[in-house]
Order: sequence, then structure tokens, then C-alpha cells
Amino acid sequence: MSYTIALNFEDGVTRFIGCKDGETVLDAAYRQKVNLPMDCSDGVCGTCKGHCEQGDFDLGDEYIDEALSDEEAAEGQVLTCQMVPSSDCVIQVPVASTLCKTAVGRVEGTVAMVEPLSEDSIELVVDLDEEEGLAFLPGQYIHIDVPGSEEHRSYSFSSLPGEQRASFLIRNIPGGVMSGYLTERAAVGDRLALTGPMGSFYLREITRPVLMLAGGTGLAPFLSMLEQLVQKGCDAPIHLIYGVNKDDHLVKTDALDGFAEALPSFTYSTVVVDEASDHPRKGYVTHHMDAEVMHDGDIDVYLCGPPPMVDAVLKHFDAEGIVPQSFHYEKFTPNQIPGEAA
Ligand code: FES
Repeated sequence: MSYTIALNFEDGVTRFIGCKDGETVLDAAYRQKVNLPMDCSDGVCGTCKGHCEQGDFDLGDEYIDEALSDEEAAEGQVLTCQMVPSSDCVIQVPVASTLCKTAVGRVEGTVAMVEPLSEDSIELVVDLDEEEGLAFLPGQYIHIDVPGSEEHRSYSFSSLPGEQRASFLIRNIPGGVMSGYLTERAAVGDRLALTGPMGSFYLREITRPVLMLAGGTGLAPFLSMLEQLVQKGCDAPIHLIYGVNKDDHLVKTDALDGFAEALPSFTYSTVVVDEASDHPRKGYVTHHMDAEVMHDGDIDVYLCGPPPMVDAVLKHFDAEGIVPQSFHYEKFTPNQIPGEAA
């Protein structure tokens, strides 16, 4: 038996390692040439402390309170030199990946499809060279080198991890480097280099209702998350509000209908900004965050959209006096890496 452990480093890099039954995370990491911080490896110094966000494990009783207090353990803090996983886990490591002598992964693939879905968005499908695809957490992003330039752009996967065929929803920005490539030069068979996965925007374990807020092509990570929820099953209410500027910017609603059919606890609504639209819900997503999807704040909120949307949602919560149990967001701007401060 082996478990997959996602190590999320402070610099946003995620590295996946295998951990054998009975093996500590620290030993597994070293076996795979990831030098996690450590000093004693005996549960005494606390140097190897991290935070386990997801998964089951045994910490044993060999460590001392100075290394990890009961309060810290209750909050999900772990000592990787003591932690023996009994399921797949996600662990936050509070140092940069470079300090652990590991680096972000690099993969290559071939363009399998480039299709404009609207004037605003393009779907890019890439067949990765590795048959087993790439490990990432649904919601995470990857850098894609723009062919014919020295630049890269970052996009969230809209597909599932571990599949050879990866897909992305890309905003069509007139004059944009990636948009220019995709609309003018891209052809099936082109080679692409991708670097990642990265980012702390990913779906956590679901223990309460979830509110997903997507702006434009910010829908992409939710497609990946929902696909995974359909696979795993989920009883908690999940509601997505998907906002766009114009009617014809609404894409992938067939996929959303499919998720709603496959996952009875999932519902979604769409919102259009354009005042000339006949859409039944107009305005911004904040105008349509009704009480029944807010659950008096007993919700986990995930938001992917441009910075003004993130700010508007935060202000809305504030004005309504609602403090969600957790709020995870990915801000993106045309030339900015998602997740970096705007
Ligand atoms: Fe010292 Fe883990 S390395 S407590």
C-alpha cells in the first residue's frame, strides 16, 4: 500500500511523493530527494513541523510536547518525522521548495485542440507526454510557455489530475501573448512546455456547505473540482455562482448541467453584467448571494476571478456581517500569475 502525499511549499510549489505503508513522511520525502526541514528526526526539536490539511495519519506518542503541543496537534500541525499516513494527505510545508532542494516539475505535451468557446474564452487541450498525466490538486494552476516567445502564462486546469489529456479555459485578451498565439498561430501537434503544479487554491476536505464563485474564465478550476466531486461523491450542498460580462461569455454550461445531474447536492446559477442582457439574473455575483446559499456563514467559500471581484465579495461579506468558516481565493489578471498579490 502506498499513499500520495502533496507537499505544498511556501513559494506555491507543490511536489507529490509516494509514502509506503508504515513510512514517515520525512523518510518518504528523503527517499524521493525532497529534503524536508529536519534536525533530530526523533520528535524532539520541532524543526519538521508542518500543517496537514487533508488526510488520515498516526503521529504516534514518541514526540515531546516542546516539539508539538496538544493544541498544535489538535489544529492539524504535524511533525513529518513522526507522521505515518494512512491515506493520501495534503501537507503545508512552511519553507520554500528551493530550501528543500526540490523544484517545480516540468512536463511537455502536444496541442490536441484549440477552440474558441466565445469571444472571451478559448479552450486549450494538451496531451501530456506522460500517459499517467500530472499530479495536482483540483484548483491548482500551471505555467505554460508561450511558443515563439520567452514568456509564460499561468492557467488553472479545468480537467482532472492524473489524466494524460489536460484542458484549460483561457481568456482571450486582444494583444495578449498567449491569446495571440492561440488565435493566430496555434495548431494541433504544436509542442508545449508546462511548469507546475502550483498554488494554494484547491479544494479542501468538504465538511460543510460550499459556495463557489467564478468570474469569467475563473470557472476553470471549479470544473476540475466538480469533476472530482462527481467521482468521489459528496452529500454537502455545493452552490456555484458563475458571473460573466455578456450573455455569450457563458461557456461550459453543458458541463455544469452534467455535474448537477450527477451530483444531486450541486446547484449553480449564472449572472450577467450587461444591462442590455435578457438574462434573469443581472449584475454581479454579489447581487445574487442569497441567504439560502450563505448558510449564515457556515460555509467554505472558494472564489476565482479578477481582483475587483475578490474585493467586492470581501466587502459584501463585511457589509452583511457574515464571516465564512473559510475563504479561499485565486485572483487573476491578464499578465499575472494567479495567486500573487494584486
Ligand atoms: Fe526534530 Fe522532527 S526533525 S521533531
